[in-house]
Amino acid sequence: MYEKIKLDYNSLMPYIDDKTLDLHYNTHYNNYINKLNELLVKNDYNYIYSMEELVDRIDMFNLEDRGELLFNLGGSLNHELYFYTMSPNKNNKPIGNLKEEIDKQFGSYEKFREEFRKKALELKGSGYTFLVLNNNKLQIINTSNQDTPLSYGFKPILTLDVWEHAYYLKHNAKRKDYINDWFEIVDYQKAEENYNRYKK
Ligand SMILES: [Fe+2]
Repeated sequence: MYEKIKLDYNSLMPYIDDKTLDLHYNTHYNNYINKLNELLVKNDYNYIYSMEELVDRIDMFNLEDRGELLFNLGGSLNHELYFYTMSPNKNNKPIGNLKEEIDKQFGSYEKFREEFRKKALELKGSGYTFLVLNNNKLQIINTSNQDTPLSYGFKPILTLDVWEHAYYLKHNAKRKDYINDWFEIVDYQKAEENYNRYKK
């Protein structure tokens, strides 16, 4: 069975309120993982691949289940990345190789942040804003619903969940305030790990 990642923090206050974190992690994220496992068991899957590897192997399953499988697989992977790359530890400025590449490609961290913010505000409906590697180049993209960038061959480094369940309570669905707060709790140490893992 696939499992949720454990959080190495209990709270992200004051940037994300505890109730939202609790609901998001224990209910929403939970539902994606549970539904994914349920569908996989139904399909007699033997859990030999990582969730990431499974994205490219979705055609091994019954046609009628593929859409639902991909939705819940994306929902599991996207939430895993979202929760993993946040922390209250104030590692909120890029470091190392990722910092170097952000400066090179966007000009500065401030300019990168502006571009990320713009992209997240542009997103219509429910989805995610991602920092990805596309052919070894950094790119900021939006995906809809629970689409994972892995489906398009992009490697996800960092993500902002822009579904309303992520910012409905504290931010009263004010996306701008939520984005600003999120920048304070991004953990670039973890983003740097992801970058180094994917960079060729
Ligand atoms: Fe979410």
